[in-house]
Amino acid sequence: MARQGVEIKKAEGKLGVLLVGLGAVSTTFVAGVELIKRGLAHPIGSLTQIGTIRLGKRTDGKTPKIKDFIPLTQLEDLVFGAWDVFADDAFEAASKAGVLENTHLQPIQETLHALKPWPAAFDKNFVKKLDGTHIKKGTRRELADQVIADIEQFKKENGCDRIVTIWCGSTEVYKEVGPAHQSLKAFEQALDQDDQSIAPSMIYAYASLKLGFPFANGAPNLTTDIPALLELAQETHSPISGKDFKTGQTLMKTILAPGFKARYLGIEGWFSTNILGNRDGEVLDDPESFKTKEASKLGVLDTILQPHLYPELYGNLYHKVRINYYPPRGDNKEGWDNIDLVGWLGYPMQIKVDFLCRDSILAAPLVLDLVLFSDLAKRAGLKGIQEWLSFYYKSPMTAPGLYPEHNLFIQEMKLKNTLRFLMGEEQITHLGLDYYEQ
Ligand SMILES: NC(=O)c1ccc[n+]([C@@H]2O[C@H](COP(=O)([O-])OP(=O)(O)OC[C@H]3O[C@@H](n4cnc5c(N)ncnc54)[C@H](O)[C@@H]3O)[C@@H](O)[C@H]2O)c1
Repeated sequence: MARQGVEIKKAEGKLGVLLVGLGAVSTTFVAGVELIKRGLAHPIGSLTQIGTIRLGKRTDGKTPKIKDFIPLTQLEDLVFGAWDVFADDAFEAASKAGVLENTHLQPIQETLHALKPWPAAFDKNFVKKLDGTHIKKGTRRELADQVIADIEQFKKENGCDRIVTIWCGSTEVYKEVGPAHQSLKAFEQALDQDDQSIAPSMIYAYASLKLGFPFANGAPNLTTDIPALLELAQETHSPISGKDFKTGQTLMKTILAPGFKARYLGIEGWFSTNILGNRDGEVLDDPESFKTKEASKLGVLDTILQPHLYPELYGNLYHKVRINYYPPRGDNKEGWDNIDLVGWLGYPMQIKVDFLCRDSILAAPLVLDLVLFSDLAKRAGLKGIQEWLSFYYKSPMTAPGLYPEHNLFIQEMKLKNTLRFLMGEEQITHLGLDYYEQ
């Protein structure tokens, strides 16, 4: 029996997509959308474009495509803007990032050249390995005002009412919540006082949320995970989500670990190491940026394996994550995992994973989905933390006091059930006893 859904405003007109950082991930995302729009590529990896959703009973045979089920913005209606600390346009930035081949960049050359970043709100203390030259000047309050002005001008020039801002910028140094982050009032005072504990990523988030637009965070920085910006998101009815796109090695981890756990296999050790040679790898070579990433990568196993419930299986798990900057590989990361498993009667076993992945190729479809779903959330009247988007993140944001869900399959179910809820369709519980009733 269908229930009443939620009223969702139509996706009319253009949706402005504002990318903070125009590096490997952003340019691979924009180029991909432009190629797909022209029928020159397939949106592989994107749940919104390829995914289907079962409605009703298995015997009903109803499995529409997600994009035909819920009112999402069409790719033709996306318009892009960006900020970066380098002035390279999207074509130059994509060429330098070296993810896509010329055969993919040439057909969309003009469109990519036309995407020129605005100067960035930047502070080298937050990304030690970057020497940006294309940057705004002023106090933190003045930077926030300039970012707000960029957004408003972009909106006007492109005739769009709706905007989503997504952080695809470098990973900032590790920070914990401080006094300036505790409330919106304290945060706004801190902006006025040019308080150094306000990270550049927080300035973009503040600007976007202040205007009532969703903000998504693709890196592990603290950014919106502070009381002040949670308060602002509530006040302006803006959806937020984060943190850190779940792509290569952590994606594998959250696919494999739930399987071992489901079979009650013990794990003694999980050693993960990576080599990568893109700019992201260079930034992460700085111990303070690495610390932010490490915290994000280490968190996943504990909540999946629940060592407090299974001390005999996971109580002594040694989990280690390393990232090594190795320029020859560029964006083509290699991630190794050695997993020391324990079976029946304590007999040891090992699994080795060697994932030769492409970082930005894995991340780009996540950017697309997050943009479209953040906009959907806004049109559906959802505000604050969007936990149903945990599926996309290594370090999902949750309400205070709630542990995050890391299991990819539970995250997927949560996402699809949220879509069913929004559209007034029944939740799927997988109980299925009714198929056997005589
Ligand atoms: N590719 C993946 O699989 C993946 C997965 C998870 C997270 N991430 C994160 O996504 C982010 C982007 O990754 P990438 O490979 O595109 O990195 P990248 O280095 O190619 O691009 C990041 C861009 O952000 C810019 N930047 C830095 N600080 C800025 C600021 N304050 N304002 C505006 N621009 C700023 C940099 O100049 C750079 O061009 C990184 O933080 C990375 O850790 C990527």
